[in-house]
Amino acid sequence: MAEIVERADVWTLHRNEPWHPTIAWYARAVGELKAITDVADPRSWRYLANIHGTSVPRPSWPSGATWDACEHFGWYFLPWHRIYLHHFEKIVRATVVALGGPADWALPYWNYDPADPETLALPPEFRTPTLPGPAGTANPLFTTRRLNDVVLPATEVETSGGGGEPWSRQFSSEFVGRTTFGGPVDGQGMGQLEVEPHGSVHVEVGGGSGFMSAFETAARDPIFWLHHSNIDRLWEWWRRQADDQPMPLDDTRWMDKEFTVGTADAVTTMKVREVIATTDAPLGYFYEGLPAPPAPVPVPEAVPQRRGPELAEQPPELVGASDRLRMDTGERTVRIATDSVVERLPRPESPGAPVEVALVLENVTGTDVRARYYSVHVNLPDGAAPAEHADRRAGGFSAFGIVEASRSDDKHSGSGLTFTFDITPIVGRLTAAGEWDPSIVQVTVTPEAGDTADVGDVTIGRIGLYYG
Ligand code: C2O
Repeated sequence: MAEIVERADVWTLHRNEPWHPTIAWYARAVGELKAITDVADPRSWRYLANIHGTSVPRPSWPSGATWDACEHFGWYFLPWHRIYLHHFEKIVRATVVALGGPADWALPYWNYDPADPETLALPPEFRTPTLPGPAGTANPLFTTRRLNDVVLPATEVETSGGGGEPWSRQFSSEFVGRTTFGGPVDGQGMGQLEVEPHGSVHVEVGGGSGFMSAFETAARDPIFWLHHSNIDRLWEWWRRQADDQPMPLDDTRWMDKEFTVGTADAVTTMKVREVIATTDAPLGYFYEGLPAPPAPVPVPEAVPQRRGPELAEQPPELVGASDRLRMDTGERTVRIATDSVVERLPRPESPGAPVEVALVLENVTGTDVRARYYSVHVNLPDGAAPAEHADRRAGGFSAFGIVEASRSDDKHSGSGLTFTFDITPIVGRLTAAGEWDPSIVQVTVTPEAGDTADVGDVTIGRIGLYYG
């Protein structure tokens, strides 16, 4: 195998050549893995997908199986999925090689890019039921368990951080009320990347009942892997921004966390510290088209556990909160009265310190989630249509994970999900226009339910307003 392999943009491959060899080999290898009918074989398609999630009860698992292991809602989301993808890629590559294909085969990525609208659709090689050629053989990349004609809504896949604002520079945080790129420490909330585009793409492609819509089936869809390859690329892209985005490199809780995926002779065990940079061994891959990496970050070998510099901040302060909000009747608007703590903004004693106004939707739960997506707006004029006020859009979240996080089992607390949106830029604009009243903030949550008028039973525990 080449020293370092390139993960390529699947739409670019397709445009260069329909059924480009990288895609065609993926299809053949997926066909091989699907043909392994023994689900206890760690290379079988079903085994690989069950590592992410499964509805098979634990007593029926093959011995040694590490199934149902996906890490979500926190700072292990990105490293766990990076390790999982690496494991999968090694198995697919070995299969490609066994079939006579190239030793440097690498998993492509699906870059759904609103600036290039064609890419908001599934790559054509995934949408067609049969392979090219006269025989009309079934296409292993195709499944009826997705919306094959989906066009991802541009607002849901903006690779920025929601509401068109840039990603947070902070990877993680101990605090509720702080937005993060990679997810909070405590595992109860999601980082910006996990919410959008990650969750949105799952639910839009899965369409509610397809494979991609639920943890226990998502990885059975061959597009799952190209979606996560893109999420993984966005992490690497974020890391490479101008001044090297800060990650908790000196926090051993994160760095020394170890994950094992697979079993027997198809197993991968890695620590988070081994997957910080994709070009480093043992990962050894890069993404086409990314800016040059920042100067190598010295990764400390063993240091006492302590907070990273980005965490050594004052906790944000809760200045107001709504009551419980039931979303079963469609769009809801609430008013949040705030205490008079306006003097915290900005903090004159520490100029340059992060000052953030955040909206936190806490304990979002549901057992029957029909809406695919919820958008969140601040201070909409009376009767205004949310879609026409992008300047007041705090962000949005998909239904992905709500049902899983509302169950209490050995993996989830049942307390639901928490979504944090940075509304500092909106507050800034409103203040400049003389339209910001710090004593009352109005929040509108709009479910997008597609064809159905029934939006299910989602409840938001409360909406908190935090000054950071
Ligand atoms: Cu673990 Cu995109 O899911």
